[in-house]
Amino acid sequence: MTYDWQQLRQLTLQCTQCALCQTRTNVVFGDGALDAEILFVGEGPGEQEDRTGVPFVGPAGKFLDEMLCIIDLDRTKYYIANIVKCRPPHNRDPLQTEQDACIGFLRAQTKLLRPKIIVCLGRIAAMRLIDPNFKITRDHGKWTQKGGIWFTALYHPSALLRDESKRPEAFLDLKSLQAKIIEVCKHTY
Ligand code: URA
Repeated sequence: MTYDWQQLRQLTLQCTQCALCQTRTNVVFGDGALDAEILFVGEGPGEQEDRTGVPFVGPAGKFLDEMLCIIDLDRTKYYIANIVKCRPPHNRDPLQTEQDACIGFLRAQTKLLRPKIIVCLGRIAAMRLIDPNFKITRDHGKWTQKGGIWFTALYHPSALLRDESKRPEAFLDLKSLQAKIIEVCKHTY
């Protein structure tokens, strides 16, 4: 079944396929440019995202904005979404069953967007989209190609807020992302 963006958003907003629908305030569908060549994927909404319905608007999101500003990216140039669209209580990791219930929405978003690059933000997204054995400390910043799309993972911005010692590595990963954008994207810069 193929949907347009509007239909897909409506379907997602109505979803009751897992228990997170009982505790959410808003479904957090996604945000950014619908013709973007880059898709960023986090794990799931936090408190402020649940309140506003927009991904990455809390402290981690603000820090992500600052990081991406270094390589001249803002939401007019990328799209951003999460593995699960509803907030897990107390910001726990989304359960496998919740991810399974929700992943179809991200797949449909990816199909509509047709990005050249997918950037996983943190371990949960990387394990789901790149490799179930992904280790973020070992594998962040590495590149792999699947189905004509380039994939990489950055440390989650929350992890960088908690642990400043990871920031130099994250900076190198950003520069590597910038180089890949220049290599494979046509209209981002
Ligand atoms: N962390 C995430 O992984 N996603 C958000 O939308 C916000 C914080």
